[in-house]
Amino acid sequence: MNAAALALAERIVARADRAHPADDLLRSELKAQRGLSRDQAREASRAVFACFRWRGWLDLQSPLREQLQQGLALAGRFHRHPASFSDAELMARALPPWVFDEMEVTAPLARALQAEPILWLRARPGQGPALAAKLKGASVWGQGPLADILKYTGSEDLFRTREFHAGEFELQDITSQAVGLACGAAPGQTWWDVCAGEGGKTLHLSDLMANRGLIWASDRAAWRLQRLKRRAARARVFNYRAVEWDGGERLPTRTLFDGVLVDAPCSGIGTWHRNPHARWTTTAQDVRELSQLQRTLLARCAKAVKPGGKLIYAVCTLTRAETAQVADRFERECVNFEPLPVPHPLQPGTGEAAPRHQLLPQDFGGNGMFIAAWRRKA
Ligand SMILES: C[S@@+](CC[C@H](N)C(=O)[O-])C[C@H]1O[C@@H](n2cnc3c(N)ncnc32)[C@H](O)[C@@H]1O
Repeated sequence: MNAAALALAERIVARADRAHPADDLLRSELKAQRGLSRDQAREASRAVFACFRWRGWLDLQSPLREQLQQGLALAGRFHRHPASFSDAELMARALPPWVFDEMEVTAPLARALQAEPILWLRARPGQGPALAAKLKGASVWGQGPLADILKYTGSEDLFRTREFHAGEFELQDITSQAVGLACGAAPGQTWWDVCAGEGGKTLHLSDLMANRGLIWASDRAAWRLQRLKRRAARARVFNYRAVEWDGGERLPTRTLFDGVLVDAPCSGIGTWHRNPHARWTTTAQDVRELSQLQRTLLARCAKAVKPGGKLIYAVCTLTRAETAQVADRFERECVNFEPLPVPHPLQPGTGEAAPRHQLLPQDFGGNGMFIAAWRRKA
């Protein structure tokens, strides 16, 4: 491994902790390091992620440099000979022990969490095949409306491509795209994207609405909404209004919406292949606190759904407390809503319509995601 890349990786692993997530440190260090080539930057990132992904196997008493090398060697072995790791070994070492009390952990899940994540793109409506023809390394994933989901295996810096700057695609995980599809937003409707963050789902909803109608995009983090605005400008998305809202009792608007999407903050266990450092900083206490916040957000935002309108709840995690238990509680307490069966967003022709879908990392090679849908009774 290149010495400069190794030194950078070592610095990041040494500093990473709960308050300083490894991916944030990597982003800011790589921005500041002007002397590093793209290949060296990629090497440093791979080493940092491998180190946290394979942490359960490392000799933590050895110097960090050695741990980084051990992580890379394990990642290489897993890539070449996945069967050389037994199911039992993967289940015991890939996840922290507290997780077993919170959710079902299976061998396919543990295997999926050890694999390097796939990069997914979302092309603009109907443009998937044309984009795949232009972007080397991109291939269409599905058929019909799912042909706008692209898998990227190329090595270009996508943020520098002409197509990116022209707003021809967004980087968006396949199961995040599934959330937008499950909403089934239509042109001319009004939607509220409650936890809009940097706007991944807002932009998707706008595309599904053909840029017509209105989306309220709220988040408690003003800086995230600023990024949403930049992304929306690049994508030429205009039918949205961004507002700060921290989940408080007073809603940001009295509008009653055709649809409300609560893409809630969560423990993110479904993203642990992409963000392996979080495995070692997230706690069972986080799950408790987040599930409480999810219940509150859902109950408050439900009031903004118009009679006959939809309420969609999504989290990229797999714990019972943040998925089924939040949905069960909502159904017990908000009796003016009924479960709304929606087609499986990634298998619309074959999968059964259901009011709840759990997409696992091993199913599609994307993040784990839980989606629940309700309709407000007329
Ligand atoms: C899962 S992320 C949203 C991702 C976003 N929907 C997207 O597709 O890009 C959850 C968001 O919830 C926001 N959030 C956390 N606590 C909140 C609260 N109490 N009220 C409103 N938003 C909150 C976070 O700032 C974060 O942007």
